[in-house]
Parts: sequence; C-alpha cells; structure tokens
Amino acid sequence: MKGLLRSFPRVGSVRFYAVFGGKDLKIEGVKDVIAVASGKGGVGKSTTAVNLAVALANKCKLKVGLLDADVYGPSVPIMMNIHQKPEVTQDMKMVPIDKYGVKCMSIGFLVPENSPIVWRAPMVMSALRKMSKEVDWGNLDILVIDMPPGTGDAQLTTTQMLQLSGAVIVSTPQDVALIDARRGIAMFSKVSVPILGLVENMSCFVCPHCSEPSFIFGNGGTRKAATEMGLKVIGEIPLEMDIRKGSDDGVPILVSSPDSAVSKAYNEVAVNVVKRLQEVA
Ligand SMILES: Nc1ncnc2c1ncn2[C@@H]1O[C@H](COP(=O)(O)OP(=O)(O)OP(=O)(O)O)[C@@H](O)[C@H]1O
Ligand SMILES: [Mg+2]
Repeated sequence: MKGLLRSFPRVGSVRFYAVFGGKDLKIEGVKDVIAVASGKGGVGKSTTAVNLAVALANKCKLKVGLLDADVYGPSVPIMMNIHQKPEVTQDMKMVPIDKYGVKCMSIGFLVPENSPIVWRAPMVMSALRKMSKEVDWGNLDILVIDMPPGTGDAQLTTTQMLQLSGAVIVSTPQDVALIDARRGIAMFSKVSVPILGLVENMSCFVCPHCSEPSFIFGNGGTRKAATEMGLKVIGEIPLEMDIRKGSDDGVPILVSSPDSAVSKAYNEVAVNVVKRLQEVA
C-alpha cells in the first residue's frame, strides 16, 4: 500500500500511522462487513452488536469478528470482559482477542480505561484503519462493526472505508429516537449501503412481578417507520434487566442464558441478518 506515512505517538504497545493517499481495500479474509448503527446515542447499538455477534457465531455457526468503531467511547472491552492487549504478529498485524467464539478488536484494548481519547479526526481514521485492515482476522464470514453515535463526517468516512455489505439500524420505539434512526438510514443510502433491517430495542418491559407488559418508549413506532421507508423490522428486543446486567458484567445474555426469550430474540435477529445478506448480495 502506497501512501505517506506519518507516525503518531505510541499507544500501548502499538504505534499508529496516518496513511494519507493510500487506496482502501477490502479487509483481507473477511466476506461481509456489517454495521450496527443509529443516528442516536444510547439506544443500544453496542449491546445489540455484541449479542448479534455472539448469536451469529453460536446460533448460525459462522466465523465472526466484532470491531468496536466507537473510538471515543469504546464499549466492547466491558461488554465482552476483555482487559488485555492484543498480541502483534511478526508482520505487525494485531491479533484480535477471541471471546465467546467472537474475534474482538477495540481501541479500548490499547488505552487505559480512564484516560480520555482526545484525538483529532485524521488520527481517529488512522486508528480505525489500523484496527480493521491491519488485524490478523483470519477468515471471517461476518465482521460486525459497533458504530459510534451520530451521522457526521467521521461516521460517513468510516462507512466508506470499511466497504460495508449492509447496515442494521437500532432504534428505541419513540419518535425522538426514530428521527435520528432515519438520519442514520439516510447516511447509509447516501453511500449506497443496503439497510438489512431495523431492530427495535427496549420494545417492551414485562413486569417480573405481575407479567404485565408496559410499552415504556411507545408501541408500534418502529414498525410504522419501517413500513414508511420500505424497510423490514428484523427483531424486537425487550427492555430487560438481565440484558443491562450482562453488558455491565461482560457476559452477554446469550452466553449466560442462551435459552431465555431474550436470547431467542437476538438469535432471530442473527438469522434475519444472514437471510438479508443473501438477498442483497
Ligand atoms: N434491551 C435492553 N434492556 C435493558 N438495558 C439495555 C437494553 N439495551 C441496552 N441496554 C442498556 O442501555 C445502555 C446503553 O446501551 P448501549 O451502550 O448498548 O447503547 P449505545 O447505543 O451503544 O450507546 P452509545 O451511543 O453511547 O454508543 C447500557 O447500559 C445497556 O446495558
Ligand atoms: Mg455504543
């Protein structure tokens, strides 16, 4: 790869380089790259990305990677309980860390947990390039990208750089989240990335005491928005304490309770993603 190399300060044991002018290539050995995204913050992108990756590996028996593209707020180290630095091969590729059957990579593996990441845009892009293309992924069927919130330049550039096969849009059912989800969808359309479907997160809360369902963020909003945009809802994930606990403990609910209703809901998303990838191929 040709390009002007400009070295950045050492981060952990890895030195990042900004490569300007280099041609972007498909990630070696990776068949499909999919983004889990939404215009809005805090709607459950990372939780969905982590559980989807585990479901694709365990339920669909695929070779799966998970790349945390949220450089400013990485979640994968906590949600997958990974607190070690990746090894580096002789040809200077980072080795992703295998957890629950998924090969994981995150900037959070390289920087101390409490230190702020104050990089400017070119440095972020350089880090993302390094974490995607200069990683020894081996052969993967699917690489799941946990996208940062927003639809700005960084997200757009990331989308273009990673040559996505498709995007999964996560939204909670209320209008304010769906407006941002529409922005996310528009961003992917701009760069001709097919939308694989919408996942409605926190769709319903079932009281553990009386089993009464409550639609805390509204009911039916995601289906209505999907129909308007000609898209499919590929899963509905309830608001459930065990999902939050699994994320905080670093044990996804698919690992701790693989037979639960919630795990079945995530498995359904995974099966639908595989189906949709075949449709849009
Ligand atoms: N279905 C759910 N039930 C209960 N808690 C959930 C659910 N989905 C996500 N959460 C919790 O909501 C919080 C936000 O989720 P998460 O970090 O996945 O969102 P995000 O969209 O990735 O946020 P950000 O925009 O900051 O990256 C987390 O504490 C997570 O554990
Ligand atoms: Mg996140």
